[in-house]
Parts: sequence; C-alpha cells; structure tokens
Amino acid sequence: METLDPRGAGENRLVMILRKQFLEHIGQTSPSPMMVEVDRAEGVFFYTPEGKRYFDLVAGVSVSNVGHGNRAVVEAVQRQASDYMHIMVYGELVERPQVEYARRITELLPEGIDCLYFVNSGAEAVEVALKLAKRYTGRTELISMRRAYHGSTHGAMSMMGAPEGEEWKAEFRPLLPDVKSIRFNSLEDLQQITTRTAGVLCEVVQGEAGVRLPNPEWLRALRARCTEVGALLIFDEIQTGMGRTGEMFASVKYGIVPDVVCLAKAFGGGMPLGGVAANRNILNSFTHNPCLGHITTFGGHPVCCAAGLAALNYLVDNKIVESVEAKGAKFEALVSQHAKVLEIRRSGLLIAVELGRAEYLYRLMEIFKEEGIMSDWFLYCDTAFRISPPLTISDAEIEECCAIIHRALDRL
Ligand SMILES: Cc1ncc(COP(=O)(O)O)c(C=O)c1O
Repeated sequence: METLDPRGAGENRLVMILRKQFLEHIGQTSPSPMMVEVDRAEGVFFYTPEGKRYFDLVAGVSVSNVGHGNRAVVEAVQRQASDYMHIMVYGELVERPQVEYARRITELLPEGIDCLYFVNSGAEAVEVALKLAKRYTGRTELISMRRAYHGSTHGAMSMMGAPEGEEWKAEFRPLLPDVKSIRFNSLEDLQQITTRTAGVLCEVVQGEAGVRLPNPEWLRALRARCTEVGALLIFDEIQTGMGRTGEMFASVKYGIVPDVVCLAKAFGGGMPLGGVAANRNILNSFTHNPCLGHITTFGGHPVCCAAGLAALNYLVDNKIVESVEAKGAKFEALVSQHAKVLEIRRSGLLIAVELGRAEYLYRLMEIFKEEGIMSDWFLYCDTAFRISPPLTISDAEIEECCAIIHRALDRL
C-alpha cells in the first residue's frame, strides 16, 4: 500500500497519492468531486500546497462569516481546549461557554425567544424543531415549503418540499408521515395550514432554491395563520442567520417573530454547532412526558460554543453585519454589468447570479477553478452561481473578485 510518508517522495507524487487515497478512503457524495487540496486558509482565501489562491465565494456554504483563520476565534478555541473539552452529555453540567453563548444569542433573537437548545448541526436542529412542534402541540402534521432544503437526515429530508425534493427523497422512502409542502410566497396555500398542523418549517430566504426572497406581506400572513390555528412557526435561519442577510437574523430583517428558530453553520464560528431557540415554555417540553425528549452527547461542545461566541462578538465589535448590505450591493452592481448575467437575486451577501443555462454553469465551474474562484450552483437551481463569501470581505477584494468573474464569464 502506498503511504503518505514524505521521505523520498517528490511533491507531485505526494499530491497524486493523496488524491488517490481521497477517492479510495473518503466516502464520496458525487461522481466528480472538485479535488482541490487545501493547505491553509486566511480571510476570504484558501490556498493549495502549490500556493494557488482561491477566492472563497462559498465560505463553507455560509459558515465562515468571520473569515478563515480569524484570530479571535482561533484563540478562543485554543483557550477553551486547554481549559476543558467534553465532560458529560449536554444538559447536566453548568458549562460557561454554553451559558454565555445562549444568553448572548437570545438577546439578539426576536423578543420572547429566550432559551436555546444546543445540537451539533443544521439537520439535527431541524429534527429537534420538528419533534418539539409535535410534542408541544400534540399534533402530527408538519408543513414545509416547495424547494426547501433543511438537511439530509430522515426527518430533515422529509421536509424537502415536493415535487422538487423528490429527486433526493425517492430512494430513501419511507420518510416521515403526515408531511406536506406548500408554495413559498403563496397566500392561497396558507389555507392548508390548519388546526391539524403541528409546525410550519420555513427558510426566511430560500437558499438552495437559488436565493428566493420572501414577500413581506406573505411572511406576515404566514405568521398570522400559524397563530390563528395554533401551529408553531419554525424559521430555519441556518443559512440566513449570523449576519448573512445584512441583519443578525433574517427574521429581524423582516420584523417577524417566529416561535422557533433553527441555527447552525456560522453559528459555530467555523466549528460544528447547531441550536434551536424558542421561548422557555416551549423548549421545556423536552423535560417531561417523556423526560430526555431529545438528548445529545456532543451538542453544545464547549470548544464549539467558545468559537461561536467569539465569532459573534467579532461580528458585533467590528460592526461587520452593518457593512453586509453595501458589500452585497457592490457585488450586484459590478457582476450585473456582464452581458451574460440575466438576473441577480440577493439578500445581503447571499447572492445568486442567474445565467439561465445549466451548460454555462458546468463550464463556468471549470473556468472558475482555473481562475482561482470557489463557487457553486444551488441544489434546486443549476442555472445560477453562488456568491456568499465571508462577511469580512473588503471592497478591494470585491473589486478584484468581480474582475476575475468578468474574465471567467468572457471565456464562456
Ligand atoms: C437552510 C438550511 N437548513 C439546513 C441545512 C442543513 O445543515 P447541516 O448541513 O449542518 O445539517 C442547510 C445546509 O446547507 C441549509 O442551507
């Protein structure tokens, strides 16, 4: 078997061996992985071992909001790792990083949401929210939106709206029963939310649908309908939270108070962390009938909470969120000048650049790779590419990046 022992192996040969072992030993999710090796990352860039620089326009799918290698986060991780790491399953011991982070984040969430349950990921946050809705209301029906993405576990996958989600769901049935989907932004479809409904799960801005913005009137009507029939309104802020849309949370941007908020991605400051926030009366449902209604070994890991809290403080102290709208507008103004760009859909620095043709996208990803840009298309939209960089990106970096995007679009 070939090893990665560097002695006697040339640099190129080492890269080849690593790629081969990547394909042999790492479980793959697609037949054509990008296969770019990462050596280090800093700010809005990551670098290969050969020193090639990539503009990171994905940011780990809206994870690295405070930039790669953020010193405040790295130091918080180092400090907490040396104080203590994992001691006991979530919820038994009083751990300062969890308590401080929960207090701080609930101060920034819409009023009345004062309590947080920590988990490990976005999909797990969604699982918890769905269970909470059933347990709290005593009902079973769950409603999601068409073209929604909420994660890949059985429960979260069940909530990928039909019929579009069918492409992913079909081979994994049976999934959760009593689930239906309605059209995002359809006032008419809100009538399908009834007194049978336990919870309605909704991204405030639909990310994987290709950045689809909510009609504010529809959001208000959705809130009103859930209140009217006693269903919990669950906002999935996993991608939109932590400043991505130009406010700390998209629910705040649109002035809607949901019953439950799911958090993950940038919530961990680059470490794996998720959370479900709600009023204490709702979240306390897990303490009885049965007790231990949802438990997790690693949820709220102290190092992840320390990282998330440091990232949040960095965003606030440096007024990063306040700069997001202007940065998004700058991207929009510069990229939209290219003749191949048909439309830009955007909320803050969550941006879809619509080219209207899937063939363009497949070719563009190859060109981007050559030109040193990391982008992606969207799960339900392969005609648009993604711009969701770290929120710390500077004006000069936006200008340089847009010049490269223009050059790449010229080559199509
Ligand atoms: C809106 C939304 N919800 C949930 C998830 C799932 O999060 P995770 O991959 O951490 O399970 C994602 C991931 O892309 C997402 O974009």
